[in-house]
Amino acid sequence: MKKLGILISGRGSNFEAIARAVQDGRLQAQIAVVISNRPEAKGLETARAMGLQAVSLPSKGVERSAYDRQLVQVLRQNNVDLVCLAGFMRLLTPVMIQAFAGRIINIHPSLLPAFPGLDAQKQAFDYGVKITGCTVHYVIEEMDAGPILRQAAVPVLPNDTVDDLSKRILAAEHQLYVETLQDVLTKI
Ligand code: GRF
Repeated sequence: MKKLGILISGRGSNFEAIARAVQDGRLQAQIAVVISNRPEAKGLETARAMGLQAVSLPSKGVERSAYDRQLVQVLRQNNVDLVCLAGFMRLLTPVMIQAFAGRIINIHPSLLPAFPGLDAQKQAFDYGVKITGCTVHYVIEEMDAGPILRQAAVPVLPNDTVDDLSKRILAAEHQLYVETLQDVLTKI
């Protein structure tokens, strides 16, 4: 069974979707550890409630490479095969990228390369696109770049608010992340 390390910073709904898929056998993997760089992340509580190992590794004030060395240590201690970023709000350095070369994936709430960065749903909404979506991609040093694994398209409907659109994208994210993982895990 391949071991996942999931990195979060907040709500953790993508992590939870992955964890549910593992629980009910849709995903053949084990969640070895959930790590948050923010101690108050709701996802940490969810992980603990699900009986998973949840580690708070605060990043505030820690230099980026030094932080990544700590991350690598925790992930290696737990024999992690694949690192899944799920709302992890911190740019990784070569320390992490090289330690887990080709084994770090991320989900972003737009059809990359459109709308990278923060508030991608609002960026798409404000631009006036009629179709947006979400992307799961391999992580490289550059933010929200890296080879695309899968994407899902989500329509912007006439009376949408940004909130309506974000919710529709989030539902698509949960499905896309699980499907992509099913696929990636057969290849590593
Ligand atoms: C998601 O929209 C994800 O695409 C982005 O950050 C958000 C995290 O949400 N990278 P959650 O913590 O998984 O609920």
